[in-house]
Amino acid sequence: MSSKKDWFTDWFNTKYYHILYQHRDDYEAQVFMNNLVRFLNISKGSSILDLACGKGRHSIYLNTLGYNVTGADLSINSIKHASLSKNESLNFIVQDMRLPFPFKKDVVFNLFTSFGYFADDQEDIRVLENIKNCLNKDGVAVLDYLNVTKAIKNLVAEEEVTLDGIVFKITKEVKNGFIIKKIEFTAEDGYHSYFERVKCLDLAYFESYVAKAGLKIKHCFGDYNLNGFDIEKSNRLILVLE
Ligand SMILES: C[S@@+](CC[C@H](N)C(=O)[O-])C[C@H]1O[C@@H](n2cnc3c(N)ncnc32)[C@H](O)[C@@H]1O
Repeated sequence: MSSKKDWFTDWFNTKYYHILYQHRDDYEAQVFMNNLVRFLNISKGSSILDLACGKGRHSIYLNTLGYNVTGADLSINSIKHASLSKNESLNFIVQDMRLPFPFKKDVVFNLFTSFGYFADDQEDIRVLENIKNCLNKDGVAVLDYLNVTKAIKNLVAEEEVTLDGIVFKITKEVKNGFIIKKIEFTAEDGYHSYFERVKCLDLAYFESYVAKAGLKIKHCFGDYNLNGFDIEKSNRLILVLE
């Protein structure tokens, strides 16, 4: 693991990340979770790890559906926020996904592009191994990534988005196998510059990653309504792993 502060430690821990991504809301999470638990036929009382849970929009809803949920995330601020919703069957922990989990679960979710951040492929594979080792027998994992093929084809090199009175200047490029998004803005506390960097992982790449971690792709969907994956049209690449 790199010792200096990584981009994903900084950016996701800011309030500005949540302002920029406010459209990724509870409603989107609930539609997706309803479809997924129905498809996977997850019985009430099952244990679920929401890995890289952010402020817990999926965890909190899954808990209302009758599951025992643990949300884990690296962002101390997000876990603090999520923990306000804690109860007997819903808890949140700060944990780096590259470290093994101290428990076993029936289901592990990794949702909304919470993967592909690390420069070293071995670290991504380690995350998949951690997921595998965390699963009970007959457990299932779901990894919800972007469809990099479509994202690259439709990449908007430069745009400005105004949200909550902040003008975010966003530039995107593909470099060394990563989609890099630079985010610049001036807020009440001055000028900020952050970036996001996600690996160009397509289905073929995932097949080899997943196999290295001892998992198999059982199903592949292209959106939160669980329509089939279409490399040209789908926005998401959602993998059900066993
Ligand atoms: C794109 S956000 C998605 C959050 C949440 N799943 C959602 O849908 O709202 C990615 C999340 O991954 C978390 N994250 C980044 N690197 C991580 C790591 N190494 N270990 C655990 N969580 C990490 C971030 O803090 C952030 O909350």
